[in-house]
Amino acid sequence: MHKPLPDRAEQKRLAAEAAVGQVADGMIVGIGTGSTAAYAIAALGRRVGEGLRVTGVATSLATAAAARAAGIAIVDLAPIDRIDLCIDGVDEIDAGLRAIKGAGGAMLREKIVAAAADRMIAIADETKRVGQLGRKPVPVEVLPMAQAFVVREIARLGGDATVRCDPAGTAVRSDQGNIIIDAAFGAIADPAALATALSTVPGILGHGLFLVEIDTLYLGTADGVVTVDR
Ligand code: A5P
Repeated sequence: MHKPLPDRAEQKRLAAEAAVGQVADGMIVGIGTGSTAAYAIAALGRRVGEGLRVTGVATSLATAAAARAAGIAIVDLAPIDRIDLCIDGVDEIDAGLRAIKGAGGAMLREKIVAAAADRMIAIADETKRVGQLGRKPVPVEVLPMAQAFVVREIARLGGDATVRCDPAGTAVRSDQGNIIIDAAFGAIADPAALATALSTVPGILGHGLFLVEIDTLYLGTADGVVTVDR
């Protein structure tokens, strides 16, 4: 009997567990948000249960709650100027380890934590691999009073902006109380130029283009975990 090939959930779990294997005793660890990061939280919690000492910095309120429930000590980032290792999921990632994040709406905190980290490992199943970024919209976190202006500016940049809403039609709020706009650009020919353009729009507080933060990708595939270094 052949062992069944890893399905998507299994690929996420394998990638997350490989990344958690990089956590060393005493590290400050940035902990991502989403379904793949949830496997990392579970794996890290198990290692903490076995005696590993780590301090966690969460990228969302949901992650802070899940990590604490798994036995991981979580601290506020505010007084901390550097993190040893950040582990987080992605929505899509290209061969140059450039990614789109933010389907869960946490990209502002995720980018701060990733930027503060000496090393960032992205974890993903193979459906996240793309030839060119832009299959998914780029999420942007927006100060609510700037909503219509930002929609106009995204259109000026060639994007199609949608305010993210819950099933009842109410605008989703980030952990910071801001709105999320999903900006669809189609295939993004120049991600760096788009990232710069989005960053300069007043009212946009952060966006989901992660172009320089990711050092290593652990990609779960049908054949196991593939490691890609920048
Ligand atoms: C959260 O805002 C996102 O950036 C997630 O990290 C990203 O959407 C990946 O999530 P999944 O692991 O659930 O696909």
